[in-house]
Amino acid sequence: MDNMLRSAVLSVAGNRAVRSFFRKYGMRLGVARFVASEQLEAALDVVLRLNRQGLMVTLDYLGESVTDRALAEEAADQAVLTLRRIAERKLNANVSVKLTQLGLTIDPAFCESMMSRILDEAARTGNFVRIDMEDSSVVQATVDLFEKLLKRYGPKRVGLVLQAYLYRTQADRERLGSQGVNVRIVKGAYKEPKEVAFPRKKDVDANYVRLVEAHLAQGCYTAVATHDEAIIKQTIHYARKKGISPERFEFQMLYGIAGELQLRLVRDGYRVRVYTPFGEAWYPYFTRRIAERPANLWFVLKGMFRA
Ligand code: FDA
Repeated sequence: MDNMLRSAVLSVAGNRAVRSFFRKYGMRLGVARFVASEQLEAALDVVLRLNRQGLMVTLDYLGESVTDRALAEEAADQAVLTLRRIAERKLNANVSVKLTQLGLTIDPAFCESMMSRILDEAARTGNFVRIDMEDSSVVQATVDLFEKLLKRYGPKRVGLVLQAYLYRTQADRERLGSQGVNVRIVKGAYKEPKEVAFPRKKDVDANYVRLVEAHLAQGCYTAVATHDEAIIKQTIHYARKKGISPERFEFQMLYGIAGELQLRLVRDGYRVRVYTPFGEAWYPYFTRRIAERPANLWFVLKGMFRA
């Protein structure tokens, strides 16, 4: 049922009329709950506010599925600028990127050169860049390019996201775990066929826990990215039982979601990082947030009546 609802929301969101309506009125209709700002400097002000509350941040310049080299170059420039401004403002933040925003589907070699620009800046400023994982049509290409970059820049500079809903992820995690990769584990946010992904939420959740525990057991830094309190409790319990220090992992949550839980974990001494998107291309990101929890549509409807 959960998955059916999620698929339905993602299908409606693809409709041209719905898309253009939201592009026009979205920021007023509640998108601002999930997106820090359309501009970098204002987003950095949000980072400062979060840092003051004890939260770390990963900044994401919104955009994906780019088919134009100039747009991919612009996205790479934004990521470089973001890293530079984080260092200049001495913020506790790193950067997340999507390879399809950096030209992966145009030409992987071109995308690699965009990533090199970004990772050179990360090396210069002593920071870290995480590659988000997108839909299953680009997972193999993303993993391939990540492994190439890993050889050049090492696990302190670049990390990857793995999705618990994919059958292939156990094997990917094992291979990356043996290379000491810093992995963010998520459930997975795209509409996927049952040939590649567990259709039942119960199986996704069970796989999620297995992946987190295996990555921690292997001694790798692990980003546990979920708002699922049962999984968060289970992770804390596992770490305590195995004597794994809270320095060896972090919880990650999305900007605008479960704020109270984020602060509670900080008070309890855990590292918490908030995934904070900014930029004008927020539509696909926003629709995935609605699809995860269709109750979020209430925010949109309330915004409509206020507008
Ligand atoms: P689940 O969906 O079971 O939700 C648990 C509880 O969290 C719900 O009961 C609800 O209370 C709350 N919740 C969840 N989603 C909510 C929402 N949208 N609004 C309000 N409350 C909500 N995916 C991907 O495919 N590639 C990626 O690179 C990333 N990156 C990423 C980074 C970070 C930091 C996070 C937290 C998530 C991602 N994701 C992602 C998204 C991820 O795959 C997944 O879709 C969401 O995290 C929602 O699933 P939960 O793990 O929160 O569990």
